[in-house]
Amino acid sequence: PVVVVKPAMVVEEDVEEDSRVKRVMVFFGTQTGTAEGFAKAIAEEAKSRYEGTAVFKVMDPDDYGADNERYAARLKKEKFALFMVATYGDGEPTDNASRFHNWFIENEEELELGLNELNFGVFGLGNRQYEHYNKVAKEIDKALAKQGAKRILECGLGDDDQCIEDDFTAWKEKLWPELDALLKDPEDTTASTPKTPYHAAVAEYRTVTYEAGTKLHVEEYAAKKTGQAGYDTLHPCKSEVAFVKELHTSESDRSCTHSEFDIANTGLSYETGDHVGVYVENNQEDVEEAARHLGMPLDTIFSLHVDAEEGQLLAGSLPPPFPGPLLLETALRRYADLLNPPRKAVLNVLAVFASDPEEVERLKYMASLQGKADYSKWVVQSQRSLIEVLSAFPSVKLPLGVFFGSVAPRLQPRFYSISSSPKVSPSRIHVTCALVYGPSPTGRIHRGVCSTWMKNAQSKESHSADECSWAPIFVRQSNFRLPLNSNTPVVMVGPGTGLAPFRGFLQERAALQESGFTLGPAKLFFGCRTRAHDFIYDNELKSFVEKGVTELTVAFSREGPKKEYVQDKMLEQAGDVWRLIRGGGYLYVCGDAKGMAKDVHRMLHTIVQQEESVESSKAEAIVKQLQVDGRYLRDVW
Ligand code: 2AM
Repeated sequence: PVVVVKPAMVVEEDVEEDSRVKRVMVFFGTQTGTAEGFAKAIAEEAKSRYEGTAVFKVMDPDDYGADNERYAARLKKEKFALFMVATYGDGEPTDNASRFHNWFIENEEELELGLNELNFGVFGLGNRQYEHYNKVAKEIDKALAKQGAKRILECGLGDDDQCIEDDFTAWKEKLWPELDALLKDPEDTTASTPKTPYHAAVAEYRTVTYEAGTKLHVEEYAAKKTGQAGYDTLHPCKSEVAFVKELHTSESDRSCTHSEFDIANTGLSYETGDHVGVYVENNQEDVEEAARHLGMPLDTIFSLHVDAEEGQLLAGSLPPPFPGPLLLETALRRYADLLNPPRKAVLNVLAVFASDPEEVERLKYMASLQGKADYSKWVVQSQRSLIEVLSAFPSVKLPLGVFFGSVAPRLQPRFYSISSSPKVSPSRIHVTCALVYGPSPTGRIHRGVCSTWMKNAQSKESHSADECSWAPIFVRQSNFRLPLNSNTPVVMVGPGTGLAPFRGFLQERAALQESGFTLGPAKLFFGCRTRAHDFIYDNELKSFVEKGVTELTVAFSREGPKKEYVQDKMLEQAGDVWRLIRGGGYLYVCGDAKGMAKDVHRMLHTIVQQEESVESSKAEAIVKQLQVDGRYLRDVW
């Protein structure tokens, strides 16, 4: 009934096994759907390879067992398992794999599963630009071996900074011969199906269209839940925008929005340091352009169905991504990711529906291994959106069932670090969001979907109830938490919107102080371009300083003759910073992972080396220990 309908995975409870047919579990840890797509691609390809000898089951770890005991009982019985797992954020598992990860990795010391029967392979989805490259895949790979399972091939490390589909293809090509040896009847000497490059099967939903005036499906939100446990990514909470304001000054050529989501009387709650997931809608012009490429008017009313019709390439085996009937306009606005560059698999699908042979060839070439450089340059580096790609191939005519089944990925919720504390703002979730706006390499003006929506949102304060903007939201817990004891020193590093969770921290500390707690020392390092443009929340910060809630050091990067960054300021105060941390304090870093957090990490290493007068390797061990102790926490993206 809500925005997201989770495919009803059938959890196979110990079915009577046909001993002649082997079962291969394909687990996926997915955040944006890529790992899930890979898992399905494996299962799809396996169908023709192992017909009659093995079945491949695609499995969301969350659906595999209700608790740890169930996980253990089931895993012990498996003989073959593949894991397609993404690493997310600061080396963390994806939401759908986190319960499994808690049990299997964080609890590892206590587990003795004796998985001697199990043969496994792991493929990781990560990004080399990040520090914990494919951490989760490596952990699972290691832990499975430790539990006695047999690795059938080396853990694959997919790098999303390059072309992860090529990495996946390469891994898969090594996988099949190993699986052949395990799954195929030794008598069966037929050669394995010829190697094919990665291609996703075309999933096509049967589409029904309706006359104008047909009653549309109305989104219903579940009755109010008690506690945030009732809401999650699949069951978001309808929340109105109570208040919006611009944080940059009028002199700034950029924009950063402060928005407040009303959660009064919803039962939704949050903790300081949590994230909020927000479902928003595409911009109208993008929606209109997508409809033009589909050759359908925006007011087309349609619904999607799974049951196949004669002659369809392949019906999607999963329930349709949204309930109908609904307007094409609504479907495009809410459910289709139109602005990300399409993956290679999508180009292959487009090739199937292109009528111009030259277009077919070019699409197929870019999707092939040989076309890697071309794809990388024309699609990835140019940040060509799905819409731009469609306009470059005018002969492609996509049925709606294919567009929503295999071409446009589901529009994902965006996550923000909450910038308030429930101690001060229990009924509103504050979000601090920099506007993503600017020319892409192809000259298109790229408008970030969520940040544009936030900027233009109409708040309850200035609009009537029926004009006011709202979005489905949910809270995701984080481990970015203040120390339990308010006396424990804290050092916070957050330039730009990296300030967000620290505003929550400071609100919380101020509230604690007001209720009589004593506060240990706190240092905040904030960075922005200039005092006159993007020094966000400056008055609030000033007042926290006046109340003794924190010390504040600001690095202005474009004010003086030379750039100054937060890490330069940390170095200037190395003695104080290290004294606080060394004495049991916590270090928090929030913001951009690829640049800032990496550089701050390096600077921390330098500071430790300098202050402790130790060798580089010893400094590294000290920093590592801080992380292990949970005293060096990062909320990075
Ligand atoms: P710049 O854009 O002038 O280079 C918030 O975005 C602040 O973070 C800006 O002042 C920005 O500076 C700065 N910043 C950019 N890259 C950074 C890095 N690698 N480390 C620390 N701060 C950085």
